[in-house]
Amino acid sequence: MFLQRNYGEIIFVSLREALSSAITRLTRENVPSPRLNAELLLMFVLSCDRAYLYAHSEHELSEDEQTRYDAALADRVRGVPAQYITGHQEFWGMDLIVTPAVLIPRPETEHVIEAVLELARTGGQECPPRTIADVGTGSGCIALALAKELPTAEIHAIDISAAALEIARANAARHQLESRIRFHRADLLAGFEKEYFDFVVSNPPYVGESEADQVQLEVRKFEPRNAVFAGHKGTEVIERLIPQAEAVLKPGGWLVMEISGTIAEEVNRLLADWSDVQIKPDLQSIPRVALARKS
Ligand SMILES: C[S@@+](CC[C@H](N)C(=O)[O-])C[C@H]1O[C@@H](n2cnc3c(N)ncnc32)[C@H](O)[C@@H]1O
Repeated sequence: MFLQRNYGEIIFVSLREALSSAITRLTRENVPSPRLNAELLLMFVLSCDRAYLYAHSEHELSEDEQTRYDAALADRVRGVPAQYITGHQEFWGMDLIVTPAVLIPRPETEHVIEAVLELARTGGQECPPRTIADVGTGSGCIALALAKELPTAEIHAIDISAAALEIARANAARHQLESRIRFHRADLLAGFEKEYFDFVVSNPPYVGESEADQVQLEVRKFEPRNAVFAGHKGTEVIERLIPQAEAVLKPGGWLVMEISGTIAEEVNRLLADWSDVQIKPDLQSIPRVALARKS
């Protein structure tokens, strides 16, 4: 798209021209936040920061850079999330590797970390917590954030997907946290010792197949299906997780789960036998984090 050839001669475009043309293309193709996406992908191709783009706006792209920028834009136009193109997403101040094998960590999942840290300070259980399970670790974002914030905790990161665990391990190594986290391939908490954990933390799959048409097309097409969808209703994984968490938690231990507004009422019902149940909202006032204490 950017390579203009004139009598066999390549005409190089400047960063300013490349950006402006990319914004026009992304706008025409209805890609949301076209400027942000155009900048992000150009920063990725040039391995630079945003300041460089504007400080060197007359710098010309090489032929290779133009080709790679064009390919990245083409992927974005067909709906590939920018994070899968760049291979990166920030979470809790850490730059994480992401591939299509893992869910892209969302900012609202940081509320789960905040809830655990708040309970770790005030929750009455082992303070600070000794043992934490992160069920459905994906990229490892929750396990890594908790390992960083709670330096004496023993963290267990669990996923059913071997490919996801590989990414989580790579992220732990990238942030020098691999000695702090044990990785397990397991179906939820199957095989774990009874009454071992102070905390069971999870962002489980919680979208119902019945509401799939309300889920962004990009998510449906490109994010791992078993990371997003739990079954017809959306609560199928949580229904299995709650009794398993009850078994592996110490008395007084906490279960902390990310949820959605759609399933909040049902989750509350499923936690009827637990103590101190709370559902905390996110910044959009959507029920987002369920907390419950084992009696
Ligand atoms: C919503 S994603 C959460 C990923 C990551 N924790 C985050 O917050 O971005 C759910 C994760 O649960 C994993 N998962 C799905 N079913 C599971 C099961 N039965 N046992 C263990 N992990 C499971 C998926 O592979 C996926 O990585």
